[in-house]
Amino acid sequence: MAWDEAARAAHQAQLTEEKARWDAETARRYDTPGEGMFEPGLLQATAGFLYSLAGGGKALELAVGTGRVALPLAELGVEVHGQDLSPAMLARLRGKPGGQGLRLALGDMATHFMGEGYALVYVVFNSISNLLSQQAQAACFRNAARHLRPGGHFVVENFVPQLRHLPPGINALVTMSSPGYFCVDSYDLLHQRLVSHHFHFGEGQEARLFRSPHRYLWPAEMDLMASQAGLSLAQRHADWHKAPFTADSASQVAVYVRDR
Ligand SMILES: C[S@@+](CC[C@H](N)C(=O)[O-])C[C@H]1O[C@@H](n2cnc3c(N)ncnc32)[C@H](O)[C@@H]1O
Repeated sequence: MAWDEAARAAHQAQLTEEKARWDAETARRYDTPGEGMFEPGLLQATAGFLYSLAGGGKALELAVGTGRVALPLAELGVEVHGQDLSPAMLARLRGKPGGQGLRLALGDMATHFMGEGYALVYVVFNSISNLLSQQAQAACFRNAARHLRPGGHFVVENFVPQLRHLPPGINALVTMSSPGYFCVDSYDLLHQRLVSHHFHFGEGQEARLFRSPHRYLWPAEMDLMASQAGLSLAQRHADWHKAPFTADSASQVAVYVRDR
């Protein structure tokens, strides 16, 4: 699944947009300490899962963001490196306790090379779907593989598209709802994309909207990209607690191993 010129040019344009999306304001609002994706039990399970795969070797997080997972993993004693497209997200990470101790770089997860010999490479919280083409996502698998030592692991946490929940003729779903917050995903079935619309609002008339575009990936498509990159599926769970992955799972934690 090589890049053609058109795909490469489209990817570069998307990177520019993506970098603008993850600006200083988004980075400032990103962390929700103790809640949501920052809930301590979730972080403990995530870091514990990754720790056991690192097996004493070094780890690389693609699209590391503000270090939500990288920092707790480093606290367990793993040497963690990270890369991200957004200077603002990396600046937040560098400003946190422990952030200065991580080797961090600006770069595109599809192409940026940090060096060989990693025991573990991972990309979590649906970040691989921020790559908006099949070519870019396949390139990300190849990029992960070339960082890994033989027998090393690539872990991908990604949502499973919920197309069965779309009523006929309707192309959007409310996927999360809590006081003061809704997330609505609108689907473009032809191009295998969706846009998540995150609405934050109070009692008044005003709302704040953050939109993120994604290219959704089917589990079997991920496995094919992996095999083309020299990786084999070793485990697939529904979450970081290793709940069984079923036909109804809305998310997955897939573990690939680099062929020897
Ligand atoms: C949902 S956040 C996840 C951050 C972190 N991994 C976490 O779990 O909290 C998505 C991150 O992907 C980064 N990102 C988007 N496209 C990228 C790309 N092509 N290469 C590297 N990072 C990218 C964004 O800057 C952002 O930090």
